[in-house]
Amino acid sequence: MRVGIITVSDKGSKGEREDLSGPAIKEIVKADAYEYAIVPDEQKEISGKIREFTDKKSCDLVLTTGGTGLSPRDVTPEATRAVIDREIPGIAEIIRSESYKIKDRAMLSRAIAGSRRKALIINLPGSPRAVKECLKVVLPVIPHALEVLEKGSVECG
Ligand code: MTE
Repeated sequence: MRVGIITVSDKGSKGEREDLSGPAIKEIVKADAYEYAIVPDEQKEISGKIREFTDKKSCDLVLTTGGTGLSPRDVTPEATRAVIDREIPGIAEIIRSESYKIKDRAMLSRAIAGSRRKALIINLPGSPRAVKECLKVVLPVIPHALEVLEKGSVECG
C-alpha cells in the first residue's frame, strides 16, 4: 500500500509550526511507501496535492489532517469534495460519532471521505491526538475498502 499524507496548515507550510500530525499518521499507518506534503489552507493547493498523490504518485490511500473545522480558512472538506468521484459518508459519520464519545467538539469537524478512481481519501482533524483517535476507528476497514475499489467486486461476507 502506498499512502499519501497531507498536512493542511498555514503555519506549518510556512515553517512557523512543527508538524506533529503528519508524522503521527506515518507512525500509525503501516505502508510500503509514503508520500508527504504540507500545504497551506488553500482549496486549490489541497485539491492539487490530493490529485498529485492519487494520479501521479499512485497512492492507494490519501489521509489529510487539518482544516476541517469552522474557521473561514478551513477548506479541506471543500477541496476534497472537488476531487472525489464518490463520497463515502459512513466513514466520516462513524469517525465523528466515535470521536464525540471522547470529545464533544468532535461534532465541529466537517471532515469527509470519498474515492477517486481506485484511491481512498479521508480527512482527519488537525491535532495529533485527534489523528490517533480517528485512525483507530477507521483503520480496520481500510483494507476491505481498498480491495473493493481495486477489484471492483469482492465477497463482502
Ligand atoms: N476528533 C477527535 N477524535 N479528537 C479531537 O480532539 N477535535 C475537534 C474535532 N474533532 C477532535 C476531533 C476539534 S476541537 C475541532 S475544532 C475539529 O475537529 C476541527 O479540527 P481541524 O480544524 O483541526 O481539522
